[in-house]
Amino acid sequence: MKLDIGIIGCGNISGIYCKRLKEFSHLNVLACADLERAKAEACAAEHAIPEVLEPAALLAHPEIDIVVNLTLPMAHYDVARAALENKKHVYNEKPLAIELAQGKELVALAKRQKRLIGCAPDTFLGGGLQTCRKLVDDGVIGRPVAATAFMMCHGHESWHPSPEFYYKVGGGPLLDMGPYYLTALVSLLGPVARVCGGAGMAMAERTITSKPKSGTVIKVETPTHIAGVLEFVSGALATVVMSFDVWGARVPCLEVYGTDGTLSVPDPNSFGGPVCVHIPGKKNWEEVPLTHGFAENYRGLGVADLACAAVNKRPARASGALALHVLEVMHAMLTAGATHKYVSVKSRCERPAPLPPGDNDTILRALITE
Ligand SMILES: NC(=O)c1ccc[n+]([C@@H]2O[C@H](COP(=O)([O-])OP(=O)(O)OC[C@H]3O[C@@H](n4cnc5c(N)ncnc54)[C@H](O)[C@@H]3O)[C@@H](O)[C@H]2O)c1
Repeated sequence: MKLDIGIIGCGNISGIYCKRLKEFSHLNVLACADLERAKAEACAAEHAIPEVLEPAALLAHPEIDIVVNLTLPMAHYDVARAALENKKHVYNEKPLAIELAQGKELVALAKRQKRLIGCAPDTFLGGGLQTCRKLVDDGVIGRPVAATAFMMCHGHESWHPSPEFYYKVGGGPLLDMGPYYLTALVSLLGPVARVCGGAGMAMAERTITSKPKSGTVIKVETPTHIAGVLEFVSGALATVVMSFDVWGARVPCLEVYGTDGTLSVPDPNSFGGPVCVHIPGKKNWEEVPLTHGFAENYRGLGVADLACAAVNKRPARASGALALHVLEVMHAMLTAGATHKYVSVKSRCERPAPLPPGDNDTILRALITE
């Protein structure tokens, strides 16, 4: 089995995808494309990708099986729709789309076209979060009853070369970083039933300090501080704060509180540890050795799984259904913030199947054969 990949969007995040996708023997990165051809050419040269194409030509390329869509959030829907219409499987960077209706349409289109749609993040498939998943499933902390998720920073205009999109509709801390935290929570606790919360914006304008756009002023068009409570179908409650308005904070990334103990989950925007548990009667906090491989930045692992899923006719783990549920939860949080009301979440998704414990090769063998 070998599936041909076409990458659209050769910006900041494309480097790690190109590096990792080439490490999977069942994947072949055949072509790349970008609206700015020079970026695609540089990417192809750096990663020895055979073909540089215009985006439309890549989408229509007869040999490409999977389009990996690494464009900006506002282009995710159009690119993914075109890929599916051309009968390709597609894997989007997060979020799945900006609007909920767009996300629903993509998932429905994939079904009609008998193709898979997948979506980042795939960090929940990394060694850190899979170890957490196993601890929860093994009952080490008992029944999960609550969780906290905090992503507090001051935004991306100090380092990203083109940070404007973070402050436009479809960006903001929730749509940008929320997918990591919410996908991890859904993988650990199952789907969300309803949310409430508030949303604010500390500054109406931001000034870029990174190169090459230093001094450019960005008009902020989306909330930059969102605080919510998520009520899971299981009954568990999560407190979630996503912010670009905070200079410094001493809060954990993600914790899960169970009837028999607490799980300290590593940064869900990473693939590794540390994973710690606090069990009553034992030492204060104990670090748990990781049970799973892929514990370093392996962006593209979700694509590798989706390729196996397409061949073996099974659901992908970083699936469109999961990403659509997360997109609905994020929109529900924004709506709750705007209306000061509880908002029900209608979609449901299965918890993605856990990976088997073991090193990278063991996991990969399982993906290919299951
Ligand atoms: N930068 C990061 O650290 C990071 C980390 C994880 C995920 N992501 C996600 O990855 C995606 C890309 O982010 P980035 O930081 O690489 O952005 P970027 O601006 O560096 O790169 C995006 C690229 O997509 C191209 N593009 C935009 N629309 C296109 C279209 N319709 N067809 C073809 N090419 C198009 C742009 O020309 C640009 O080269 C976003 O969804 C972002 O949320 C970024």
